[in-house]
Amino acid sequence: MIDGKKILFSGMQATGTLTLGNYLGALKNWVTLSNEYECYYSVVDLHSITVRQDPEELRTRARNLLTLYIAAGLDPEKNCIYYQSHVSGHAELAWILECFTYVGELNRMTQFKDKARKHADNINAGLYTYPVLMAADILLYQADVVPVGSDQMQHLEITRDIAGRFNSLYGDIFTIPEPYIGKAGARIMSLQDPEKKMSKSDENPNASVYLLDEPSVIMKKFKRAVTDSEGCIAYRDEQPGIRNLIDIYCAATDKTVDEALKEFEGQGYGTLKTAVGESVVAILEPLQKRFKELSEEKTYIDSIIKKNAEKAEATAQKTLKAAQEAVGFPARM
Ligand code: TYM
Repeated sequence: MIDGKKILFSGMQATGTLTLGNYLGALKNWVTLSNEYECYYSVVDLHSITVRQDPEELRTRARNLLTLYIAAGLDPEKNCIYYQSHVSGHAELAWILECFTYVGELNRMTQFKDKARKHADNINAGLYTYPVLMAADILLYQADVVPVGSDQMQHLEITRDIAGRFNSLYGDIFTIPEPYIGKAGARIMSLQDPEKKMSKSDENPNASVYLLDEPSVIMKKFKRAVTDSEGCIAYRDEQPGIRNLIDIYCAATDKTVDEALKEFEGQGYGTLKTAVGESVVAILEPLQKRFKELSEEKTYIDSIIKKNAEKAEATAQKTLKAAQEAVGFPARM
């Protein structure tokens, strides 16, 4: 608790260009929850280097991501928006926690298996211990709640296990966090292969809507979205393309599936695709405008980066000290 408010932590990687999945699965909920909680939103650049990055590109993407957080509606005066690499406690706590994580647990992580398959020439130790760094992120801030898309559930579970194990040995050092998965949009699928998650790293640009896509491009991508030959709008497993379009529509408009089904009753797929595209343009257009404006405000963004890194550092140090003392490191004189 800080000032009577519960604590929220979440983060995104500055790898690739943010997709509609990142927005509807996470960022949109961050904005909604930001009034209720004391929030830490990190640009998790330490995680990004588990996959080879071009240094200049990573720096630019990280800055754009931080700017997008603000453009999406997170007030940086009220929410601590910062770069993970500016707070050394993340890496320090991750080391301690690695000593309380079993190889067997890490072997079960499906994201590791997927990424190892995709980057077979670079299966580095960081990729393997990635979930422990994520646990350190969350536990450093004593987060009560962590809003994420459903693909991060397994990482939240291992975080809870590590924290519980540590606490049972040393007392209540860490708050055990709860995941927050939104009602709609928790798993947005690829527009070209609706059995697959929409992902920043998809090679087919038509598979994902990017947050900075022009409205005309967004409409085109929805028009090309893969559907089926059933010809009737229903929300069921056998029609994953249509189900995904309805999910996107509901997440973008805050309508329920029943409301959406009623609205599109008797309509064709073309009408649905146009309506979904328009609902997405309606939320992304203001965000894009704000992003452009903020990108010009260099001094302002720099001051946010500095101020918030200091705030995050101060909170992180408290937990780090408690963990260091708990495991038996000598106090600094
Ligand atoms: P990342 O950068 O892959 O994704 C950021 C957030 O977007 C969500 N997301 C989706 N939601 C719905 N549908 C999709 N298709 C979709 N794709 C992505 C993710 O669930 C996530 O919430 N490991 C994390 C970053 C991280 C983190 C943390 C998150 C590092 N430390 C601590 C929370 C707490 C990741 O790679 O997310």
